[in-house]
Amino acid sequence: METTSKTFKYFVETFGCQMNERDSETIEGLLLAKGFSPAETVQEADVVVVNTCAVRESAESKVWSRIGEIAASSIDKKPPVIVLAGCMAQIPENIERIKTQAPYVRVATGPGYIHHIPDLVERALSDPTERLLLAVSPTRTGACRDESAQTLPEGLPRKKVQGPSAYVNIMYGCDNFCTYCIVPFVRGPQVSRKPQDIIEEAKSLVEHGCCEIILLGQNVNAYGLDLDGNYYFADLLKDLDEIKGIERIRYFTSHPAYFSKEIVDVIKETKHVCEHFHLPVQSGSNRILKLMNRKYTQEEYLELTSYIRKQIPDASITTDIIVGFPSETDEDFRDTLTLVEKVRFDGAFTFIFSPRSRTAAARMKEQLPRELKSERLQELVAVQHGITRSINSSLLGTVQEVLIEGPDKRYPQYSRGRTRTNKLVVCTATNLEPGDMVNVKIEETGTWYLKGPLHS
Ligand code: SAH
Ligand code: SF4
Ligand code: F3S
Repeated sequence: METTSKTFKYFVETFGCQMNERDSETIEGLLLAKGFSPAETVQEADVVVVNTCAVRESAESKVWSRIGEIAASSIDKKPPVIVLAGCMAQIPENIERIKTQAPYVRVATGPGYIHHIPDLVERALSDPTERLLLAVSPTRTGACRDESAQTLPEGLPRKKVQGPSAYVNIMYGCDNFCTYCIVPFVRGPQVSRKPQDIIEEAKSLVEHGCCEIILLGQNVNAYGLDLDGNYYFADLLKDLDEIKGIERIRYFTSHPAYFSKEIVDVIKETKHVCEHFHLPVQSGSNRILKLMNRKYTQEEYLELTSYIRKQIPDASITTDIIVGFPSETDEDFRDTLTLVEKVRFDGAFTFIFSPRSRTAAARMKEQLPRELKSERLQELVAVQHGITRSINSSLLGTVQEVLIEGPDKRYPQYSRGRTRTNKLVVCTATNLEPGDMVNVKIEETGTWYLKGPLHS
């Protein structure tokens, strides 16, 4: 198979969070190592891997329609082998749907099995009668802690990282069971990688030219709690900070209940850990936070964010918020708006509650009507945008250190990059390369960006 597969071309499409982006790099690395080559477009691919997200119904719908489109676009030629990879593949109803409605999907693999993709794809390519090749674990229930099936082996190849930033997984899975969330079901229990494996990977990335390391986990602050040994997230940050050549360290996602003041202090002391705190609050109402099983109150959240502001005044704080959780009253929603105004987030990802099968919240009575949820979302977005614009405009005239990522999408003649606080900056210089660290004088600001020339 090794020799014939050399002619096969693959295309990978990624939906969902940074973890899926990181997994897609491994999927590409594995296919390249097997002798596959990248296709320029889906149309010329023999294999199309769709790495999927199941976090909201809208995320799943996007994938189903995209898969339909891929199948339809190959109507006049031999259809590609479509691989449904990622979180959607862990859900039995989705596997049933493929069997009955999506015959063009020939392989399905959950996130803990992506290293099986090349073999399954080769089987599917060599035998068109093979119907659906599966590598998924039974969906997790509270009782099933299928760790071996959810963590990836160490040392898998990865596609060469483009640009100055690289993702590094520090843990897999999640143990929190926030009542709205499907992630613990599809990604399994929390398993931390060994500190040495993480540090070695980061060192090797820096040796190969990356200067920004982005640590990934569903609850990075809980890193190490499942390992034997007294080594936790703050220790990891301190050790990574020492790596020669590293310029910036970021991490996603934090959980407010596990974000200790010690971690804030370490971030203040270390040189390279960026002053950006993404702390998903989800709701400002204590009643709803309890129903969500978030394990903190509005008061505790405010105490944490005030501590951050006191210790690191220039830090940015961003968040995720869900509106329309079952039984959310107008008063609960007002609590969220009040919290947003008190914290003054630099930015927020805002979502309408989407019931997910198997989660406790999907079974709760008092699901809210779609219209009410949309109205609340609009109101929240308007308030948050106002705050974001006002914070960004307060940066007019300042000089920001920016790590250049590449050409800007809207103004391709210019470059774009990020501040340490994770704000997007368009720099109007035309001679910059990805990886350049430059100072930019901010002369224009909007909701999504800051803009200006180089400052010498
Ligand atoms: N582990 C991260 C986030 C994972 S999912 C954390 O704990 O914050 C990313 C975001 O999607 C969540 O923060 C939440 O705001 C949103 N989300 C998750 N499940 C959702 C659902 N069922 N409906 C709407 N939004 C949801
Ligand atoms: Fe989902 Fe909660 Fe885990 Fe985040 S911490 S992945 S929201 S269960
Ligand atoms: Fe989506 Fe899976 Fe990430 S459900 S948000 S791709 S962990």
